[in-house]
Amino acid sequence: MNSLYQWTRRSVLQAGLSLGLSPTIGWGASDNILQRTIAASNESLPVIGLGTARAFDVPETPDAIVQRAAVIDTLIKSGASLVDTSPMYGNAETVIGEIIRGSDRRQSLFLASKVWTEGRAAGEIQIRQSMERMATDKIDLMQVHNLRDLDTQLPTIKEWQARGNIRYSGVTTSRRNAFVTLADVMKKWRPDFVQLNYSLGERDAEEILLPLAQELGIAVLVNRPFMNGALFRAVKNSTLPDWAAEFSAASWGQLFLKYIVSHPAVNCVIPATTKAHHMIDNLGAGFGELPDVATRRRIENWFANL
Ligand SMILES: NC(=O)c1ccc[n+]([C@@H]2O[C@H](COP(=O)([O-])OP(=O)(O)OC[C@H]3O[C@@H](n4cnc5c(N)ncnc54)[C@H](OP(=O)(O)O)[C@@H]3O)[C@@H](O)[C@H]2O)c1
Repeated sequence: MNSLYQWTRRSVLQAGLSLGLSPTIGWGASDNILQRTIAASNESLPVIGLGTARAFDVPETPDAIVQRAAVIDTLIKSGASLVDTSPMYGNAETVIGEIIRGSDRRQSLFLASKVWTEGRAAGEIQIRQSMERMATDKIDLMQVHNLRDLDTQLPTIKEWQARGNIRYSGVTTSRRNAFVTLADVMKKWRPDFVQLNYSLGERDAEEILLPLAQELGIAVLVNRPFMNGALFRAVKNSTLPDWAAEFSAASWGQLFLKYIVSHPAVNCVIPATTKAHHMIDNLGAGFGELPDVATRRRIENWFANL
């Protein structure tokens, strides 16, 4: 991490203040963003990342690039690093590449993309294309998107990993009807990462996949943390409970994300946003206290009774 980029705790608190968040809650008392260890390597990974589905699928106009560069710079300045994308997300990889090219941002980022095609040759072409689009000769994490053509694509990813062009292997889904297959894949292939949907509104992963990931030492990325915005709509007529302050959540976004991150199997959650002030809000969930087991039950009961 380039230390010039790293925000001080003071600037982090000021960013929270500009959002109207209390300086004593929200960004919390910890100096650095919370990190979790990737079991395959012991490398630390900050718990808050960035998703790019829809949010980065825009033409590369100067305005669109400036707006999204501000989101990525906010991520980097807080000490976070993971950006998740896919060739399935239209122009998102190209937009990320435009933001990275000609800057020193690449060294601060953990780039996660995906293979989403059929056949070995097409998979390799797509991996190369992702590298070109994102202006990088190494992808930190390459995942098989939605388990598509897994038996072909995962071995290719592992080969590229052995050659040093990919640092970690992974598989993704966001649908509970793929969870049984995903559990089998985790046991058979032992990818370094699994990416799945988990949130207050979609808790099925708690049953088998999250404990299995812990048992097998597979790192977990969480997608759809806000159910693509549906969680904000579910609370639009409610007031943030006072007790959210007990675990340093100063906004709905922080309550939703801290619930996810407080599950011990979770390494990193990847909310998507087009807005730097939402990125600041989301990053706040990586600082301060997390709900303990009893508080997690309280959050679940509160959500069930909304
Ligand atoms: N199968 C797969 O591999 C798979 C499937 C689904 C998702 N994913 C990954 O997971 C990422 C996240 O999932 P998602 O994109 O479906 O949706 P999401 O992150 O659950 O929700 C994104 C929505 O929340 C809004 N938002 C973000 N931060 C906010 C905040 N602090 N306050 C209020 N609104 C906020 C965004 O709008 P604004 O732009 O206005 O902030 C956007 O409308 C994806 O982008 C993708 O990288 C992977």
